[in-house]
Amino acid sequence: MHDSVEALLPADLLGFLPCATPDEWIMAALENQSLLLIDHAQCERKAASTAMSLMYRYVDHPLLLTKMSQLAREELLHFEQVVKLMEARGIDYRHIGASRYAEGLRGHVSRDDPQRLVDVLIVGAFIEARSCERFARLIPRLDDELAKFYRTLVKSEGRHYEDYLMLARHFATQSIEERIAFFADRERELIEAPDPVFRFHSGMPVAA
Ligand SMILES: [Fe+2]
Ligand SMILES: [Fe+2]
Repeated sequence: MHDSVEALLPADLLGFLPCATPDEWIMAALENQSLLLIDHAQCERKAASTAMSLMYRYVDHPLLLTKMSQLAREELLHFEQVVKLMEARGIDYRHIGASRYAEGLRGHVSRDDPQRLVDVLIVGAFIEARSCERFARLIPRLDDELAKFYRTLVKSEGRHYEDYLMLARHFATQSIEERIAFFADRERELIEAPDPVFRFHSGMPVAA
């Protein structure tokens, strides 16, 4: 009972997401745990790389630089933890194609600053919040070792969601609520529309 999603996740994070992960995705994840871990490792590495690319592009924002540097280090640590867990389980790390999710959101990011930065930060908040929600929903269904690991990730990805949202509000020159609502609609489509490719952030599973 203490592992319910509501107990694991802050109410504002659940309120930020436009929909819950479909049960069908949870079932697919439990049936494809090796693939889930391989894609999870790739997501952690990509999260670090996204944070670092913001550090290269926006060198004149000390708050952003500090937060992104911390975030990149944490994501790389997560990457190492997933790889170690995979090694212990005899799962070979290999390159697999990314899901449509992150690109499906980033495709709507404005081309010009300052809106570009705000959009990238809002997209970051959605990716972190969704990751957090999926970890939390999986935890009650996983073996003890993986459940314990995912409990630590729920906490840090939850902080990353807060940081991204805080930074988006910090750098915005006007209210960002409309922009959040716009990306929330896109996010819901990506989560609920049929998706033949199972990944950590994939949509509604369908037979490939
Ligand atoms: Fe992470
Ligand atoms: Fe994260």
